[in-house]
Amino acid sequence: MAKEMRVLLEYADRIDPTSADDYIKVGGYKGLEKARKMNPKDLIQEVKESKLRGRGGAGFNAGMKWSFVPQNAPVKYVVCNLDEGEPGTYKDRIICEKNAQALLEGMAICGHAIGSDQGYIYCRGEYPFVVELLRKAIDSAGSVLGDFKIEVRMGAGAYVCGEETALIESIEGHRGEPRFKPPFPGVEGLWQVPTVVNNVETYACLPYILVNGAQWFAGIGSASYPGTKVISLTGDVVNRTYFEVPTDMTLREVIFELGGGIKNSKKFKAVQVGGTSGAFIPEQYLDTKIDFDSMGAIGAALGSGAVLVLDETRDIVDVAARITKFFEHESCGKCNPCREGTFRNREIMERLNAGKGSEADIDKLLLLSKVMQKACLCGLGQAAPIPTESTIKHFRHEYLRKVQ
Ligand SMILES: Cc1cc2nc3c(=O)[nH]c(=O)nc-3n(C[C@H](O)[C@H](O)[C@H](O)COP(=O)(O)O)c2cc1C
Repeated sequence: MAKEMRVLLEYADRIDPTSADDYIKVGGYKGLEKARKMNPKDLIQEVKESKLRGRGGAGFNAGMKWSFVPQNAPVKYVVCNLDEGEPGTYKDRIICEKNAQALLEGMAICGHAIGSDQGYIYCRGEYPFVVELLRKAIDSAGSVLGDFKIEVRMGAGAYVCGEETALIESIEGHRGEPRFKPPFPGVEGLWQVPTVVNNVETYACLPYILVNGAQWFAGIGSASYPGTKVISLTGDVVNRTYFEVPTDMTLREVIFELGGGIKNSKKFKAVQVGGTSGAFIPEQYLDTKIDFDSMGAIGAALGSGAVLVLDETRDIVDVAARITKFFEHESCGKCNPCREGTFRNREIMERLNAGKGSEADIDKLLLLSKVMQKACLCGLGQAAPIPTESTIKHFRHEYLRKVQ
């Protein structure tokens, strides 16, 4: 029987996340103490060796990202991405609600590594209670954090602001639109100075890596994307909740063992991994591990770690058509391929879904998807056609049933 492995969530509901004292009683802030005794180069090397990769979607090696920050820059920032705008995803909220101090400790560890004394947490506008919780947690941790200061900034409900450069624009007080890359934030980020942007979960792993060692972390789960992953399980399953699992757990184990299987004794139809921008996967891929590279190998993405399950009664064309509305609404409009592409994707999908489309429309959607993946400026537009494309690939027969 597959089992959870709780590292970040070990003390969930047993300590007050706002209290640094509670956290210290269960071993908290020992990682920061250790990190501060190390020189920054060795600290970055330790994080590299742990093979910790970003938990926000892109899966980039965290230590490697930090190593791009020029050590001699006079001002640098540590930014935490708590935008969590991906529908079905709520794992970063859970990490804050259960273990906020680990996030603060992780940010301070990063601060020591890159030589920064200022951190910002960018929190989605729909989480005002988390902002309040974090501000209390920061107050409580004041003396332990020492010279490293953390401020919380709030978004205003735009999904694109989860993209790291749009997030930076938003913190600066501008309209949330992505920047051209390069330069990457590590070289030119917030207010044009070197900035590390990492996800909540990425930072929250750091204290445990420091205390238990890089080799310990590298030995958990899948070799190329080690550690645990907090996932949020939603849709037609018995246990709709969050789990922390080693990254070598399979989708089947997540859905049928931890998740208790499909609700109301129905059959499984598909699962969408990684949030609304993820691919829909049919039954034949359920033995895939829930790690970054295994998901990529089947044409899917681990993304934020959201797992949405659909039972046999769900109309997959209808589900995919609804998703296109989300992307049309959230496109920031800065680049043409996304602004026009999300509009056309929605228009054609709605036509097909209403039984007014043709087989040629299906081919048009596939072409549009190729163009958007290549031509859009940021990940929003590049991923927007993935739900459409993956449902056509795996469930074409359901589309054909709807064409005239
Ligand atoms: C449209 C869009 C939305 C995103 N939303 C988030 C988000 O809510 N949280 C997050 O950590 N990363 C998000 N990302 C990824 C970030 O750009 C970035 O890769 C990440 O914050 C880096 O942190 P990590 O390396 O620790 O994963 C998003 C990317 C795109 C293109």
